[in-house]
Order: sequence, then structure tokens, then C-alpha cells
Amino acid sequence: MSWIDTKAHDALARIREAKANQVYPFFKPFESGGLHTTIDGKPIVNFSSNDYLGLTTHPKVKEASKKAVDTYSCGLSSSRVQATTVAHVELEERLADWFGYEACLLFTTGYQAMVGTLMSLADKDTTIILDNLSHACILDGTFMAAGTPRNAPEIRFFNHNSARSLRRCLRTRERENALVAIEGIYSLDGDEANLLELLDAVDEDPKAVLVCDDAHGTGTLGKGGRGIFEKYGVTDRIPVVVSTFSKTFGGIGGILLGSREVVDHVKHMARSFLFSASLPVPVVAAASTILDMLVEDGESLVAELHEKAAYMRKSLLQLGFDLGDSNTHIMPVMCREERKALFTHVAMLESGVMMVPITYPGVKKGEERLRLNVTRGHSKEDMDQALELLEMYGNAFMILSGEELAPYED
Ligand SMILES: Cc1ncc(COP(=O)(O)O)c(C=O)c1O
Repeated sequence: MSWIDTKAHDALARIREAKANQVYPFFKPFESGGLHTTIDGKPIVNFSSNDYLGLTTHPKVKEASKKAVDTYSCGLSSSRVQATTVAHVELEERLADWFGYEACLLFTTGYQAMVGTLMSLADKDTTIILDNLSHACILDGTFMAAGTPRNAPEIRFFNHNSARSLRRCLRTRERENALVAIEGIYSLDGDEANLLELLDAVDEDPKAVLVCDDAHGTGTLGKGGRGIFEKYGVTDRIPVVVSTFSKTFGGIGGILLGSREVVDHVKHMARSFLFSASLPVPVVAAASTILDMLVEDGESLVAELHEKAAYMRKSLLQLGFDLGDSNTHIMPVMCREERKALFTHVAMLESGVMMVPITYPGVKKGEERLRLNVTRGHSKEDMDQALELLEMYGNAFMILSGEELAPYED
């Protein structure tokens, strides 16, 4: 065996153990798309999906994608530099207009959009200042920028959502310019950014600029679903927003919003944009169709999501569940013990409801949870089924009582 085989074998010990105990929760193959699917032929309601407005499987979205396949097929065989279509350009213009920014650039994923943006904007005169619960795309973009010869920005972390801690980082940084990165909604905890206080801290510093990853706020926050900046009326104070098509927009793809010059700069600098294939047009067509729906009917779509989320939140709290810091439609069910999360997930899945466990190192030990995202696509019956099962297994596996589970028996 080579060292890579030994390394892989050693690293997989926990995975082997979970599989041996029949509680391995990941990579379950769906047999169809959407919130209502099947696994091994069994119907499943998926509560871990990010299809927040339930539009991914809308007939109009599918129809638009099918039509685009006829014209463009599924790939353009190159990067945007030499594989841009009128569909890309038109959607970029429409998105910029709808979100209220001068310009937009479409990446192939949201992850690439953030990595490319941070790497293009940060240089040796920059300190990137991050919330300590930042998503992997923000962390990776920062570390890649820091590892780029001659660019190497400084990196600082501030305590989650703390304007005081952010001010300390701003005050003590060693480089002239500051790029502060936050998220609109933090997807593991379901809590919103403490936006207004953080913005005040940024605005006090003439050399600080905010970048907001609003992947989970797009389609869910603000009256019309434009995101956290719409909710708080601060579009003009957030110069750079990054978002995604992989949640509300029903497909895959990254969105960068900003001034014309900043977007143009990233367009000509971002390696994750320049050196990766362009977004397939059937996906562009799906997102464009969902944008039509948001333009026509955004307020009622978002209101429906919020009504459902309010029902679920009230019911979960009545049952006695701990939802951690959540104040959005993302409501982690805190189990606070790995086995409780794994066992509950297995039992619920057997009964037709999927809530994927999030365990260490995704979260700290003692903060294990089930991922529960309410979407507009869930019916009251779906939610009631989930609540009934959560109550049953929440009692059985002592999530509700908080008592410790007995150790495994050999
Ligand atoms: C906060 C955040 N940013 C970015 C991404 C990446 O988006 P994409 O799936 O488009 O790569 C995700 C997706 O998990 C996310 O949760």
C-alpha cells in the first residue's frame, strides 16, 4: 500500500464505524428531483433541501431548461471568456437590475464566485476580516488569496456577529485596506447577520468595505426576496454581494453583484471564473424563469415561505425543541450529542422524512444537530408528519429530555 492508501484508510475510521453501525447519513441517492422524492423506492420528504421557494421543479422552469437544451445543449465546452451566450448576458443584466446593483457576473458555482471575488480584490495592502463562522467558500477564498505569491493579504477573524470584535480587528489590522466578509444568513445556525451594527462598524472606517454572501438570504429575506440588504434597506451600503442559484434559483451557479468597475475587474481577474467552464444554458434558463416569477410574484412567494416557517417554529418550540440561535426559516434541531442526531436521522428517514445530521467537525462537539429547512414547497401535511416524528424520536432518543444516551453495548 502506498502512503496515500494508508492515509485514506486511517482518515476513514469514523466513516467505517458509522457505516458498521448503520447510521452513516450522507450521499443517499435520490431517484428523482425536488422536495418530495424517493430513496430505495421509498417516498421521502426532504427537509434538508435549500430549494427555499420550492420552485426547482416548477413545470415552467423545466420547460425553459428543455427548450434551452435544444438551442445550446448542456455544455459550451469552454470558459466564459470564449463561451458566453446572449442568455448569460441577458440574465446578468436582469439580475443586476432586480437586485438593484449596477452590474452582475455569473459564475459556475457560488463557491467559485466567492473564491474568485476575494482573490481578485484582496492583495498585500488588504486585511480580510472574517466572521469566525464563515462558510467554506469564504475561508477557502481567503486562504487561497493569502497563499498567492506577492498578494498575500493579512487574515483576521472576528467573533460571530460581534460588531465590537469586528471593530477591534479593524483597529488593530496591519494593512491599509480592509475587506470584511459576512453572510446574510448563517446556514448551520439559521441566524441572520447582525447587519446594521456590523455595517456601522464598517462605515466608521474609510478604508473598510463589506462583502456579503447572501446565498441563504436570496429569495427568503426582504419583501420581494432580494435578500438581507432589501430587508434592512441598505443596498447602497453593501458594495459587493455574492449569491447562488443553488438554493432559491433552482439550479447551480454563482452571482456577483457590485459596481460596473468592480464586477468588470473580477471578471478579468478571477481565476475561478476564467479557468472553469461556463454555466450551462439550461441552468441559465431555469434561473431566468425563476427570476420572472420573483419579479411578478416575489412578495407573495416570500410571504408564503414565512407563514410556513412561522408555523414550524411555533410548533417546534411548543414541543420543547431547542432551535439554537435560529431566527429564520433555517431551524436546526439541536441534539447536542452525535448519536442522538444520527439515530434520529435514521429513524426519521425510515419513516419518510429526511433531516440530515450535522456533526463534528461541521459543528463543535456538543452542538450536533439535524438540518431542518422549511421551504415554501413543504405542505402543512409534510410539516405535521415531520413534527409527529420529531416528537416521537425526540423523546425516544432523549433530545427533548436532554438526558444522556446509554453507551453502545458490545
Ligand atoms: C453561505 C454559502 N455560500 C456559498 C455557498 C456555495 O454555493 P454553491 O452551491 O453555489 O457553490 C453555499 C452553499 O452551500 C453557502 O451555504
